[in-house]
Amino acid sequence: MKIISSIDDLRDHLRGQLRTAFVPTMGNLHEGHLSLMRLARKHGDPVVASIFVNRLQFGPNDDFEKYPRTFQADVEKLEKEGVYILFAPTERDLYPEPQEFRVQPPDDLGNTMEGEFRPGFFNGVMTVVLKLLSCVQPRVAVFGKKDYQQLMIIRNMARQFALPTDIIAAETYRADDGLALSSRNGYLSDAERAEAPRLFQNLNQIAEEVRGGHLNITELEREAMANLTARGWKPDYISVRRRANLQPPTAGDLAQAEPLVVLAAAKLGATRLIDNLEI
Ligand code: PAF
Repeated sequence: MKIISSIDDLRDHLRGQLRTAFVPTMGNLHEGHLSLMRLARKHGDPVVASIFVNRLQFGPNDDFEKYPRTFQADVEKLEKEGVYILFAPTERDLYPEPQEFRVQPPDDLGNTMEGEFRPGFFNGVMTVVLKLLSCVQPRVAVFGKKDYQQLMIIRNMARQFALPTDIIAAETYRADDGLALSSRNGYLSDAERAEAPRLFQNLNQIAEEVRGGHLNITELEREAMANLTARGWKPDYISVRRRANLQPPTAGDLAQAEPLVVLAAAKLGATRLIDNLEI
């Protein structure tokens, strides 16, 4: 595997490649990331991964400085997956001058849920994703459904900018007890790790109720928030949305069995976990 940090070197190595499959990451790789590499490999060749902890998507009170950085271990994992190039730019490589041009997602997609609780987050994510896609120029790029809202906004961005890259969605990789794998799970104490699957359990409960015909969505959301709060969590949101546009479903949508997804974010101790489930 070639490890490349400069945009010019990356372009030299990828010149003429028409089927590149790309997986952007912020490193601290776990099985979930590796499953994205395997999916990428099914959709293209060569597979290019990136590791870049993107300052633009962290708020002033977020964990940018303490975000886990495990470069050497990540390299070994990517080598085993047969990744051809690891693009690992420094901040100076990717942002040689202040990144003043930004991608601002539309309010209805970008300022709700994650965007409401992490102002500026999607502006930072979309800006770096567009820049990484412009550096790698892949035929396909793979993103996990774990970050469902992020995936949806990236899809819309790719469509509206007519990017020549197909966005591929990868299923969320879960531990045996249902907890979605995330680099932030490493912050959990043993007791918190034992409690953490309850977030997904609550999403499953809502999904079962909705599938069983309980259509008072607001009540289901409120109950799940109360359940978690009673166990010491601090939920930001638990919200049932239309899959197509992440807007709250109308009575008509519910009557017509519009495909839905329930999304949640909640703090357990100092760790903020997010998850979602398609209904
Ligand atoms: O999902 C992530 O790991 C990041 O948001 C991404 C897409 C690599 C952009 O920094």
